[in-house]
Amino acid sequence: PVVPDLAGRHVVVSAGGTREPLDPVRFLGNRSSGKQGYALARTAAARGARVTLIAANTGMPDPAGVDVVPVETAVQLREAVLKAAADADAVVMAAAVADFRPATYAAGKIKKKDNQDPEPITLVRNPDILAEISAERARSGQVIVGFAAETDDVLANGRTKLERKGCDLLVVNEVGERKTFGSEENEAVVLGADGSETPVPYGPKEALAETVWDLVARRLE
Ligand code: C5P
Repeated sequence: PVVPDLAGRHVVVSAGGTREPLDPVRFLGNRSSGKQGYALARTAAARGARVTLIAANTGMPDPAGVDVVPVETAVQLREAVLKAAADADAVVMAAAVADFRPATYAAGKIKKKDNQDPEPITLVRNPDILAEISAERARSGQVIVGFAAETDDVLANGRTKLERKGCDLLVVNEVGERKTFGSEENEAVVLGADGSETPVPYGPKEALAETVWDLVARRLE
């Protein structure tokens, strides 16, 4: 039986991966599928929340009963998150946001020229949305959750990142085969700003999503 412990709450979830365009046909992207974010959106709706899902290039059908805002770039994702976060009880940043974007956008397709080396691509920083919403807190008591994919020193790096971002919870994934990117399964540790550590064993992304909402609901009480 599903407990509607998020009834009357508005939660915002970002999902997928941003695409940073170089020209009308090319972009810099990443391997995020959006599956974890969609699992978070579905489970929050099942627990009674009003859900805004900010979807970056996921190519998945909209989950039933969820408001979906499609975006492409990190700058668009930031706009959508800030708008939705204004009256949100919780924000979960499951999207993989590009840290950098090309400094310039070519209005016409970039051409290769004979006997000429390619132009280097210059990058500029994207805004860190998670750090920004954590510092600003659109609402007092708002619970903010980040995600981090690490390959080594997972817990130590996760703890450092939690402090740097200023969020309440950080879901730390170990990137590996069969795990995380594009997979149906995940394995993670949820670190809390209160020092807590909640391990989530290897299993479906829904199970990790339920654990995240358990921890969020407890903090909203
Ligand atoms: O710093 P890193 O990219 O590892 O942090 C991951 C977390 O920060 C994720 O929750 C991601 O959604 C968020 N993020 C962000 N804005 C960025 C980069 C990451 O909100 N520019």
